[in-house]
Amino acid sequence: MSIKISERESWGSKVGFILAAAGSAIGLGNIWKFPYIAGENGGAAFIFIYLICIAVIGLPVLMAEVLLGRTTQRNPVGAFKALSNSPYWAAIGGMGVIAGFVILSFYGVVAGWSFGYIFEAIKGSFYDFTEPASSADHFGSLTSNVTWIVGFLAVFMGLTMFIVYSGVQKGIERGSKIMMPILLIILFVLMIKGISLDGSEKGLSFILEPDWSKVTGEGVLLALGHAFFTLSLGMGAMMTYGSYMSKKDSIPSAAVQIVFLDTIIALIAGVAIFTAVFATGQDPAAGPGLIFQTLPVVFTKMPGGYFFSILFFLLLTIAALTSSISLLEVVVAYFVDEKKWKRKQAVIVFGIITFLVGVPSALSFNLIADIKLFGLNFFDLADWLASNILLPIGGLFISIFVAWIWGFDKVLIEMKKGAESLFELHPWIIKFWKIFIKYFSPVLIFLVFLHSIGVLDLIIDLFI
Ligand code: TRP
Repeated sequence: MSIKISERESWGSKVGFILAAAGSAIGLGNIWKFPYIAGENGGAAFIFIYLICIAVIGLPVLMAEVLLGRTTQRNPVGAFKALSNSPYWAAIGGMGVIAGFVILSFYGVVAGWSFGYIFEAIKGSFYDFTEPASSADHFGSLTSNVTWIVGFLAVFMGLTMFIVYSGVQKGIERGSKIMMPILLIILFVLMIKGISLDGSEKGLSFILEPDWSKVTGEGVLLALGHAFFTLSLGMGAMMTYGSYMSKKDSIPSAAVQIVFLDTIIALIAGVAIFTAVFATGQDPAAGPGLIFQTLPVVFTKMPGGYFFSILFFLLLTIAALTSSISLLEVVVAYFVDEKKWKRKQAVIVFGIITFLVGVPSALSFNLIADIKLFGLNFFDLADWLASNILLPIGGLFISIFVAWIWGFDKVLIEMKKGAESLFELHPWIIKFWKIFIKYFSPVLIFLVFLHSIGVLDLIIDLFI
């Protein structure tokens, strides 16, 4: 048994772990979703609430997930099995593995668009658009083209598989160490460009000056849910990455750095996008089409737009790729640890299966757009199932397990490993974490869950 454990792969360095985990966290959620939900929900005021949510539930749950992984050196199913010996808790891990599939299947579709848009940018296709309507038409014609949409899904999945195939250190860690600095540099360049445009102040004040009148209860729950999604929580991705971490490294300091990187990048993306959107007179509240429909118009209207459009979609694709590898890694780690498969075999089999599950999501934009379950097409259903059901339930049980089931004295012993001096200097960190993980996280996540299945709204209607 001990031989098996020492054979298991691990990160080469602490920085490697932090960059890989930040890579998982930083994704389409930061660059595509965060700006548009902030745009629709009052800009700065929404961002303020989002930051609180990140601190109150994001950071504590991230620490809990990494801790579960590092302690057991196992995938989500193995981690719960090792600590609880109960099939019910193992099933929570199993739900995470399934969520990995489901998320990757629709995430890969949007990532595929992003990849395809690099070529659109290179071809200069955006230069035909002077208004959002024509850009939206172009987006519509691309996504209704089955070959384009399935083809780029396949290429993107191929890239994801290639990295995971190469292993934890040689694939994921090395890939993250190359891609994350590139991502940071591109984003920085885009932010400077955005700020330097005439009329960018309106974009800046949109992000910096809160309009509290636009904040609703709905917006608060959205911020909570997004805090969760953006940190890749609730399905064992951070647990799996944590399982390759050394017990000599401090979890709280790694978690703070991951959260910091994720948050700062969402904010920089917001500044880059909104300064450009306002400077070119476009609508900040354009919703999910903000990136693929509004931004191409923005690029045609700004000096050097050709160059910056290529950079932007490259950035988006890199961000998606460092996230998709962590999704596939959860599934692969499960089959490697529990079923004793070879990594390469697991990557090929489950990479292909995930691609096949992604195909109906891709076809929801064309051939099977009319096939609906509960009023949602396949793509929306996969998104809804993962973001509103699997992730909140997973997150809820992860915090309950760490806070109430595992035994808090054992939790503390594990958490202190690698962080002895930190806790000696700042004992309050543990006190705060304990309160957050025991009370705030479960209650708040439960509220998000009730809201996403519509129950909270019913209760509110009944009593107010
Ligand atoms: N955090 C990713 C993003 O912001 C999306 C995501 C959610 C994710 N859950 C995940 C990525 C689990 C990897 C693993 O885009």
